[in-house]
Formats: sequence, structure tokens, C-alpha cells
Amino acid sequence: MRLLWRSFRGLANSRNRRLVATTSTRWSNRNEEEREQRQDYQWSYPNSRLEQLLYATYWAGGLALAYHWLDPKKTDLLAKEKDDPEEVARLWHVTVRNDLPTYKPAQVESHNSAESRIWVSYGLGVYDVTDFAENHPGGDKIMMAAGSAIDPFWAIYQQHNTQEVLELLEGFRVGNLEGGLAESNVETELGSPWAQEPQRHALLKPASKRPFNAEPPIGMLAENFLTPNELFYVRNHLPVPVIKEEEYELEIETGAAKPPLTLNLAGIRALPKHSVTAAIMCGGNRRSEMTKFKAVKGLSWGAGAVGNAKWSGARLCDVLAQQGVQPDESRHVIFEGADLDPTSHPYGASIPLAKAMDPRGDVLLAYEMNDEPLSRDHGYPIRVIVPGTVGARNVKWLTRIVVADVESDSHWQQNDYKGFSPSTDWDTVDFSKSDAIQAMPVTSAICTPQPGSRVKVDEDGDGRHITVRGYAWSGGGRKIVRVDLTNDEGQSWHVAELEQEDKPDGRHYGWSLWTARLPVTDAQRQHGDLEIWAKAVDSAYNVQPEKFEYIWNLRGVLANAYHKVKVKLV
Ligand code: MTE
Repeated sequence: MRLLWRSFRGLANSRNRRLVATTSTRWSNRNEEEREQRQDYQWSYPNSRLEQLLYATYWAGGLALAYHWLDPKKTDLLAKEKDDPEEVARLWHVTVRNDLPTYKPAQVESHNSAESRIWVSYGLGVYDVTDFAENHPGGDKIMMAAGSAIDPFWAIYQQHNTQEVLELLEGFRVGNLEGGLAESNVETELGSPWAQEPQRHALLKPASKRPFNAEPPIGMLAENFLTPNELFYVRNHLPVPVIKEEEYELEIETGAAKPPLTLNLAGIRALPKHSVTAAIMCGGNRRSEMTKFKAVKGLSWGAGAVGNAKWSGARLCDVLAQQGVQPDESRHVIFEGADLDPTSHPYGASIPLAKAMDPRGDVLLAYEMNDEPLSRDHGYPIRVIVPGTVGARNVKWLTRIVVADVESDSHWQQNDYKGFSPSTDWDTVDFSKSDAIQAMPVTSAICTPQPGSRVKVDEDGDGRHITVRGYAWSGGGRKIVRVDLTNDEGQSWHVAELEQEDKPDGRHYGWSLWTARLPVTDAQRQHGDLEIWAKAVDSAYNVQPEKFEYIWNLRGVLANAYHKVKVKLV
């Protein structure tokens, strides 16, 4: 018995030493404490029968635990570690650790701020990176993945795929992710209208999956003046239609002397090609902020339902002029898409004919986005681009254009995408009394730092400061002339540096990116909590309103109050 006891003890100690040696050098201090506790334990041989029985039970349990803990995959990895530590580092996140609990994605999601602790998943692993977040070399970008998977980020930011980083990450492991390596949710139900939805970039955060509506992480938005196509927000009301290039036709009915015209893709491509840089913004961009003041109906968009791209195609004004259409300020141009609702009505919208016929309006029948053919989600093969105008009028999968005396009768023109007084509620609303949104109002958003993140204060000859970056845009071709930032609730304002295209005012359709250095006082540094506000001013000296309170509307559109972001200084 004594011999058996000693061998158990030796086995236990050596196993603990092996595991703890690994964890204490590479993993976290938590394990260091556990080791100390284990080593403090004074071993002695049990004397009475009762003690022996108790110890036997203890060890039976211990053995079961050891069996559980010595998960074959883990022991394999530990054994392999000496020979090929790099390979082992690459395997940790695809290995189930039986010594740790399993979490559902929703549980990971709930840990998305410093207060709730910051969890991320990678492959099969769940990690608590709260204590590391402020030392993250990429700054607060780590917050983009808070509560979600880092896999798609690391696919882009390849510098993470090193032994050192992977080992560091494993040190923060707190569990396994349920279904962690499951295939992405490719739709395969035959006959479902959703069966042929396109593949989307894993970084697009869905506000709804069917129809697909998603925005990129706000922290990435100001990284590129032209938003990468695969990260451009997607706003679909219906399933994405399947359109074969050879079958595509666009009907144009102008009511002018000439008969209706049908153009195929080759016909549209044969027309003179024009390009314009234009931001498209959803009317519901930043709705999630407005709804905090008082609930609104609609998808909960963050500040990422906007993107900026170079669009290329034929000018609508050329096509209409060729068809003999005369400018008439009372008329409209109706657009229809190939996406049909369950009653077979297409998505539709309209714009004033004056905008469509104005060569300075730059309205395009676009077939390229950032020099690539349009993707299915963004309107392949043809969409209309109406620069400076709310996203809803930029109809995708365009199949029909009608010049008419009245606006489109579609739901989206008549009963949606309209603004109302803050006092109008669902009992009193009359959609026919409000104008459809066309040009969007001036707005801006802070992209980095992100809300809730920990921000490192930089110190140099100029004193202490933090760097803030974001976008600003105004509809109707109005140029952004200034972006003001404050971090003391408006006592002092700092003007940001603008990055924008050199375009004449009235035709300034692209967004402006901006960067500001905000000074940080000793008191702010000590206090730690800081709120940053941004407001933009356009060329008509329109400025964003301060609060959502006075611009609130039941649909949560036109949410352009100051953008306010709370951060913690470190
Ligand atoms: N066009 C069609 N045919 N169907 C749609 O659902 N959504 C509109 C517009 N054009 C839509 C459409 C809305 S509300 C917006 S904001 C923009 O497309 C979004 O364009 P994007 O998905 O290319 O970003």
C-alpha cells in the first residue's frame, strides 16, 4: 500500500510539475498560484483505516480527474512540444482542452467590454484577453473582436500567426468554443429563396442574416479612403437575385417620343465610361445610438452602414438625353431591382429627374466598384449610383428605369426612409405627409478609438495626447470643410486634419477621413474615463446637432447627432 501510495504521489507530482512548468513560463500567473498552493501541501501517509479509506476515495477521484485532464490530444501536444514547439503552438487553438469548460458563442459574446471582461475565440479556443488588451501592439483594434471570433481578423492581420503570439494567446485560454470549427453557414436548403445567397466576408457583422444586412467593424472603416469591396456594408431587403450576364436586360421607358429601350450588359458597357468617388450611406446608419435615447423600429446599425468607393459605368444623363428626355423639375425617375418580394413586387425607389439629367449629378449605371465588376451583394451586374443621395435610392440589380410624373409607389419610397418630428409616434404617423429622404445630412463618426476601449496616452515634446480618427460626409455633393473634436464636453475644440478628394463643392461625393490629436490633461489622465465628441461641418455650414433627443424619429433614420465615444485612458 505504502509503495502504491508513493507511486501515486510521484506520478501526481511529476505530472503537476510538467504541466505547471509549461503553464508558469508561458501561460498565466493564475497557474503559478495554483502551483504554489499544490506545492505547499504537506504529503503524509494515512494511518487509520478511515484515513486510508478517505485517501483511497480521494485518489480514485484524482485518477478519474487525471484521466480526464490527461486528454490524449493534450498529452500528445505536450510530448511533441520539445521537438517542434512551433507546430505545437499552431495546434493549440484547434485542440479541445478537456481541462477547461465549453462555452457557447452567445456566452463569448456577452464578454465584450472591459467591465464584462474581454473574451475572444480562435478556432476551438476561448480566451480572456482583458489583461492583455491595453498592451496589444495594434492598440484598441483588439476591441473589434471583443466577444467574437478573431479568426477573420487574423486572416487579414497575418502578423499574429507566429509561435510567440500563439503561445501567448494559449496562456489566456479559459475554455473551448462549442461548434468552434463548424463550417461557415453556407445555405444549402434547396428551393429556399435564400439558397443562393453569396459568400460574405467573415468580418461583416450581420444586423440580420435573412435578408443579409451587415457592416464592417467600425475600427477598420477609416483605414482605407476607398472601402475594400468585401468590407463594404451590405443592405438587402430581399434575397439576392441570381442574374446571368447573358440573360441580363435593362428596360428604359421614358415616355418621350422614342420607343422604350432595352439595353444588355454589352450595350451599357459600350456607352462612354465615367467614374465617380461616392460614399453610400444607409438612411439608418447610427440608428443604434438614436434608439438608446428612445426605442425606434429598424435594424440596429452602428456607424458602419457607410462606405466609400470609386464607381464606374455609363452616365444616366447620357442615356436619357439620347432617348430625347427633356429636363422637367416636376418629374421623377423610377428604378426597379430584380429582387422580388413574396408578392412579386420588385425593390424600387425614385429620384428627381433633375438630379438624373444633371451631368454634375454624376448618376451612373454602374458596373464596377473600385475597378472590379460589382459583386452580387452590391448589385451585379448593374446598379444605379446616385451620388450624395441616401443609400435606398441606389437601386441594385437594376432591371427597369421609368421616367414618370410621380415618385415610385414602392414601399421603400412611400412608407419608409422618411423623417418625422420627435413627437410623431406609430399611432399618429402619416407617411404620405413626409418627403422621401434624398440628400443626406452632414455627419461624422469616430472610428478609433472604439467605445469602451483602453487608450494609451502618447507623450512627446508637445505633452500628452491621444489620436482619434474617423470619417465625415455630407449629402448633396456638399464638401466637408471642418471636423471639430472635444474631450472636455465642448469647453475646448480641436480641428481635425482632413483627407479628401480635390473636387468642386456641390460635386464632392466622396467621404472625408480625418485625424485629430487631442491633448490630455493631468486631471483627465488621473480620472481615466474620457468622452470624445466629434461633429462635422459641411460647405453650407450645416453642422451636426448635438443630441439625438431633438432629431429622434420613429424609424431611427438620419441619426447624425454628435458622435460620442467613451474610453478609458491607460
Ligand atoms: N436595391 C435593391 N434592389 N434592393 C435593396 O434591398 N437596398 C438599398 C440600396 N439598393 C436595396 C437596393 C439600401 S436601403 C441601401 S442602404 C443600399 O442599397 C445599400 O447598398 P450596398 O448593399 O451596396 O451597400
